[in-house]
Amino acid sequence: MIFTKTARLLTTAAFACAAMPALAQEVEVLHWWTSGSEAAALNILKEDLARQGISWQDMPVAGGAGEAATTTLKARVSAGNPPVAAQVLGMGVTEWATEGSLGDISVIATEEGWDAVVPEAVKRFATDDGKWVAVPVNIHRPNWLWINREIFEEHDLTPPTTWEEFNTVAQTLKDAGVTPLAHGGQPWQDATIFDDVVLGLGGPEFYRAAIHELDPEALGSDTMKAVFDEMRVIRGFVDDNFSGRDWNLATAMVVNGDAAMQLMGDWAKGELLEAGVTPGEQVLCVPAPGTEGSYLFITDFFAFFDVSEENQSGQQAMASALMSPKFQEEFNLIKGSIPARADVPSANFDSCGQQAITDIAEANAKGTLIGSLAHGHAQTPAVQLAIFDLVTEHFNSDMSSEDAVEELLHAVEAAQL
Ligand code: GAL
Repeated sequence: MIFTKTARLLTTAAFACAAMPALAQEVEVLHWWTSGSEAAALNILKEDLARQGISWQDMPVAGGAGEAATTTLKARVSAGNPPVAAQVLGMGVTEWATEGSLGDISVIATEEGWDAVVPEAVKRFATDDGKWVAVPVNIHRPNWLWINREIFEEHDLTPPTTWEEFNTVAQTLKDAGVTPLAHGGQPWQDATIFDDVVLGLGGPEFYRAAIHELDPEALGSDTMKAVFDEMRVIRGFVDDNFSGRDWNLATAMVVNGDAAMQLMGDWAKGELLEAGVTPGEQVLCVPAPGTEGSYLFITDFFAFFDVSEENQSGQQAMASALMSPKFQEEFNLIKGSIPARADVPSANFDSCGQQAITDIAEANAKGTLIGSLAHGHAQTPAVQLAIFDLVTEHFNSDMSSEDAVEELLHAVEAAQL
């Protein structure tokens, strides 16, 4: 099988050389990496491919967490015109694979021994029925709290480790006229905070039961009510202009001292680096309150669609470039994440990156490495969006926690039908 496919590629290449001028290879890539650090990280890949004579046709669809990109991708695939590759989050890969829309890149995966270097938790999303259908480029951790150190020092505060401490610290800042929390009111950002609160108040077992298993008892519990109580308190700590704000602008508020904290994944660290700020120095990174010892994770994958044969060699070259240890190091140093490959040297990562590398190993060993709901690694897109809607509606209204819990149960049930 490997031989046949390789032979076919070689034959195609030989034919191309002999019979016509070399065809310029091109890969059209759909993605949502449009912030400064995201674009800079992606550039590493564009340059890698350019060196191999592969040109990049950019298809960016702005919007954090890929909300808009996912819609565009769906439209392209249903019109029978998929891109060569697209950025997709974990459960999205599973869904595309189940629909039979993805190609098979197992030949290159086997040749390069990906099985041995990609952690199980990540590999499960990259493979379907034993075949590799997507390439993992990173591991991000959404459950971080970013803190402007100077503001904390000025007000004599220490980083909160529980939600109760968070509330006290945030209230002190608010009373002193400082915006405690930089936030962007977009459903995925509200859901990022919800992820942190469910995990922080309920612990990893509760997160699994409520969010992964959709256990009605956990979803309808007093703990879940306490989660919505906390969401209501947090709503009081954001500024008046939070609605619709992009996540990177919220990060900039922390950098510039316009707000003291942000609850956000470590793509925020990419923006710190881009702004010339040293993570762990001017801006501190600590696990979101109550979540120490657990590691919510997400991986950005490039999924390879079932495209015409002439585009397949570009796909293989791109897959190989994405999985090279050198690429994974250079890319992740800019992006704020850690490599998806377990064998990339960690020495060059900053102190927050080092902490992520230590914490993920620990969480993996004790079973607290958990896929994030907000970032497509826990539920089908249908259930995920149903929860997003409810969380956002609650955040932006005076809905009681009792009503929120009841609505959550209904929404989850309806989305599973
Ligand atoms: C996530 C993605 C990250 C990050 C973020 C904001 O979904 O995995 O890489 O860039 O969105 O766009």
